[in-house]
Amino acid sequence: MKNIIIKLILLIIIIFTPYLQGQSLAVEQKIDSLLLKMTLDEKIGQLVQSVGIKENTIEDIRSGKIGSILGIKSADEVSKFQKIAIEESRLKIPLIFANDVIHGFSTTFPIPLAEASSWNPELVKKSASIAAYEAASEGTKWNYAPMVDISRDPRWGRIMEGSGEDPYLGSVMAIARIEGFQGDDFSHPSKVVATAKHFVAYGAAEAGRDYNSVDISERRLREIYLPPFLSAVNSEVGSIMSAFNDINGIPASANKFILTEILRDEWKFKGTVITDYNSVGELVYHGFAKDKKEAALKGLTAGIDIDMVGDTIDGDVYSPHLKELLEDNLIDISSIDKAVRNVLRMKFNAGLFEKPYVDSTYFVENNISQDAKNKIALQMAKESIVLLKNDNNLLPLNKKTKKIAVIGSMAENEYDQLGAWTCKPNYKNGISALEGIRELAKEGTEVLFARGFDPRSNDKSGFEEALSVISQANVAVVFAGENWELSGEAASRTDINLPGVQLEFIKRAQELETPIIVVLMNGRPLTINWSSQNIPAILEAWYLGDMSGKAIASVLFGEYNPSGKLPITFPRSVGQIPIYYNAKSTGRPAREDVKWSSKYLDSPNTPLYPFGFGLSYTQFKYSNFSVNTSSNSISDSIIVTVDVTNIGKYAGEEVVQLYIQDLFASVTRPIKELKSFKKIKIDVGKTETIKFIVTPSMLSFYGIDMKKIIEPGEFKIFVGGNSTDLLSESIILN
Ligand code: BGC
Repeated sequence: MKNIIIKLILLIIIIFTPYLQGQSLAVEQKIDSLLLKMTLDEKIGQLVQSVGIKENTIEDIRSGKIGSILGIKSADEVSKFQKIAIEESRLKIPLIFANDVIHGFSTTFPIPLAEASSWNPELVKKSASIAAYEAASEGTKWNYAPMVDISRDPRWGRIMEGSGEDPYLGSVMAIARIEGFQGDDFSHPSKVVATAKHFVAYGAAEAGRDYNSVDISERRLREIYLPPFLSAVNSEVGSIMSAFNDINGIPASANKFILTEILRDEWKFKGTVITDYNSVGELVYHGFAKDKKEAALKGLTAGIDIDMVGDTIDGDVYSPHLKELLEDNLIDISSIDKAVRNVLRMKFNAGLFEKPYVDSTYFVENNISQDAKNKIALQMAKESIVLLKNDNNLLPLNKKTKKIAVIGSMAENEYDQLGAWTCKPNYKNGISALEGIRELAKEGTEVLFARGFDPRSNDKSGFEEALSVISQANVAVVFAGENWELSGEAASRTDINLPGVQLEFIKRAQELETPIIVVLMNGRPLTINWSSQNIPAILEAWYLGDMSGKAIASVLFGEYNPSGKLPITFPRSVGQIPIYYNAKSTGRPAREDVKWSSKYLDSPNTPLYPFGFGLSYTQFKYSNFSVNTSSNSISDSIIVTVDVTNIGKYAGEEVVQLYIQDLFASVTRPIKELKSFKKIKIDVGKTETIKFIVTPSMLSFYGIDMKKIIEPGEFKIFVGGNSTDLLSESIILN
């Protein structure tokens, strides 16, 4: 009888497990049966990615020697190569096509740092969703975004690609982008597999120099650099890309601790891990592998699945050496199978086995018009602009202004405003800032233009003409900053002042009677001390993509009241870097009157503009701040409320930010940590009561043994419109 019951239970388990575990079990079974049929070459092929199309590519696809291709951007071409995989290769395993869709595919959205300035994850998700739609419609099923690297170093050019310095804001933006790219299910025709990159701590490159080494404690890794990746994994991101840098002596692309112990064992990541561009091959240059064969061994055994740039012409790592390693008994087939399984799982989950081609009917039936896309892109661009200074309400521009001077080459170069990392840009989709201003200027307002200068050069020959244009005008808008090539990959700078002769021009312009507004276009915080002291109004416009011209004009004329807040600190000088709001107190906090305290002889510690900062054309007053708990127990949530009143003359949006500080703990804690925020619209004269719930997990931190803990004691809760001007209250929790 007992036996019958046991057998019955087993039968029930066998029958129902597939239903209980659903699709995932079915997928694993399909992978099992495919693995049984695959030759070694075909297995290795799945671990090899080709960049672009070479003379061997067609043959490699036919013989199953490549599993994915990077860089093809049209549906027709994708179909052409996919057809070979499906119709001419032995096992008909579909290829997956990848691209870097960082801020839009053909419709270019603001750069990620700009989008993070919106503090509007819902809108960022919409932007990512349109990027996915456009990419998928052209056959890109795998996106190498979001870049979720935290960085505290504006010298690093790639800071433009991320969401700034804060792990919480970075996590919120990572989740929004992944949801936008992947949706609930990335097999949907309009969705793509997302990639959280670059794992990990790439943004901590020493001295802000791209690809440089990283040496940080495990604590800092866990507290600052890992959280957005953990959020990505919890959002079921499909893949992770390993970083170029070494971390504490072990290159990230061969780092078992991060790729296996943290990512797979601790976080249970089920997706695919791909290298960055030849980053396993570069183990040789790191001096970590004596040759490409050892590099392949170290990469695979640390947890790398796919070798990017690994086709039979360029690839000299996985494609030749995995086989040799197996023959030499340095690896066994199970480690190859494990990696292949991860790749096949991604392809099955992406629906490629059933639908290897672009579902063109879907895109015909669900057409999103360019107007509809531009509407979102425009809103995203407007919300990304940060008003840094506005003395005497110089902005918005007076509607009755007779003559406006627009100066600077970037005001008319449509390509500069797109920024680095465009994908397949359509330069005709947008208008320049100059055209945007002309479009919105009222009848009777004359818009004069002179290039004056270009950030790329030291040529001053245009100065006199531009200065004379300014002196004829009632107000001048000067476009300054970095041309697009000055930020992005391999674009680190040691000097983050305005490049070229721009400052010299701005100083000359400021000597004239005409009030000057500076609009900055750049991909990183800049040290703009002189302008910030002497120029009455400054707008940070980053690179806003196709809708840049319209968005900037809309803010200048007050059609949109700026609401952006900085996702990163603006230093006063390069000497302050790294500078960030969530610093530690030190044993000798800075004091004006104490020489032996933590400060500089030649500069204040404070930044030029703090994290979370951004002005509006209206003003918000914070009052009735209250912090309550029902029991004062550490395991209960804290209810925080504050009234925010619009006391100015324009309706506007405010980003209400909540920070906490754990005053005394077994591990030193930052003086402030962002834990929540809400963006709200408030009409003139109106008050909104904002409520936050601070949960126990928000008060937790990594204890001495790197396990999350919560310690009773005194906490400070802060609320305000940036990381510096805050109301605060202490609370003791037992
Ligand atoms: C970048 C990656 C990118 C890859 C493929 C590399 O140089 O670091 O972010 O995904 O190229 O384009």
